[in-house]
Amino acid sequence: MTNPRRSNADIIGRDDVDDLDAILAVIAPEGAFHEVAAGGATVFTWDYARTRDALSRLYEKAKNSQWNASADLDWSTPVDQEAVAAFLASTNPETMILKQKAATDPSCPVHNWTEREYRRLAFEQQSWMLSQFMHGEQGALVCTAKITEQVPWIDAKYYAATQVMDEARHVEVFSRYLAEKLTGEYPINGHLLALLDDIVADDRWDMTYLGMQVMVEGLALAAFSLMHQLTNEPLLAKLLRYVLSDEARHVAFGVLSLREAYEEMTAAELRERQEFAFEAGLRMRDRGFAQDLWERLDVDPKAMLAWHIENMPKGHVPILFSKIVPNIKKLGLLDAADGWLRHKYEEIGVIQFEDWADTSEEYGELDAVAADRAS
Ligand SMILES: [Fe+2]
Ligand SMILES: [Fe+2]
Repeated sequence: MTNPRRSNADIIGRDDVDDLDAILAVIAPEGAFHEVAAGGATVFTWDYARTRDALSRLYEKAKNSQWNASADLDWSTPVDQEAVAAFLASTNPETMILKQKAATDPSCPVHNWTEREYRRLAFEQQSWMLSQFMHGEQGALVCTAKITEQVPWIDAKYYAATQVMDEARHVEVFSRYLAEKLTGEYPINGHLLALLDDIVADDRWDMTYLGMQVMVEGLALAAFSLMHQLTNEPLLAKLLRYVLSDEARHVAFGVLSLREAYEEMTAAELRERQEFAFEAGLRMRDRGFAQDLWERLDVDPKAMLAWHIENMPKGHVPILFSKIVPNIKKLGLLDAADGWLRHKYEEIGVIQFEDWADTSEEYGELDAVAADRAS
């Protein structure tokens, strides 16, 4: 039975969501491998009847929209990383806001920065973002293999298996792009790893869906769209367009499956899902602070985070929640248990996206592979 008074400290290990020392203490361990014991049982089903039409349609679409990273992308495209970064520095709205505020605020740790330093920020940001995308994609690869094993429905096992293949391609393209076109790969961010660990260790199959398909995939969908809009590099733009059209299906898979699973749940069980959605949301916000990026730029991460929280209120890039909150709402998690999660999302400043489009409806429009083949 859930204790309705579980505190922030019980859920996320700290009372104050903005406790800087606690945020900065979350660091990924070094080493070439990372082990975590997977929770939950593998489930065989002997019920092969295809009764879930929406999942069936998604599975058909997934089989038709597979693409090949080596054949469908032109890897001979030359990439001038400095020029791409310079363009990014001049188009990224986050950088614009930072520049404007930093210039007039002597308390900002980057108050004295010149254009050259902002270009270096954009350069590092691109490597950081694409590295975290790559690590997150491996998380998705592992989590969808887990879903394939643990979900009891045959239609969902079929679909999840197509996603395992999608995610392998996604790891492949990001890792190839980083290796061939950029310099300066980053290790996995500690907050992202903590979230992946939690998702893999949980023994309830629906939590893998919530953590990966709705939260991490939702963030990826928004982050890839943003980068796709901002870049002028044609290979990256096409790669992101193709990855995006897969990701939209992945989020839709999560929403469709969880809607059914949640119908059967008690209020106490839903409250546990809300707490997990809060914890995951906060970990992704903390990931967005990019403490590892500031360290590489020789900017004191604690001073930068403190300034950020004060001056760019409620997180680094709240727009990245634009695909998560509407889906959480559609699942009924925002307002279950007297709107507990609604209050929590207000606390971390991401509630404003609740009425944006949810992904169970828009995945068809985002299918770039089908659109390219039709033309
Ligand atoms: Fe992916
Ligand atoms: Fe995905």
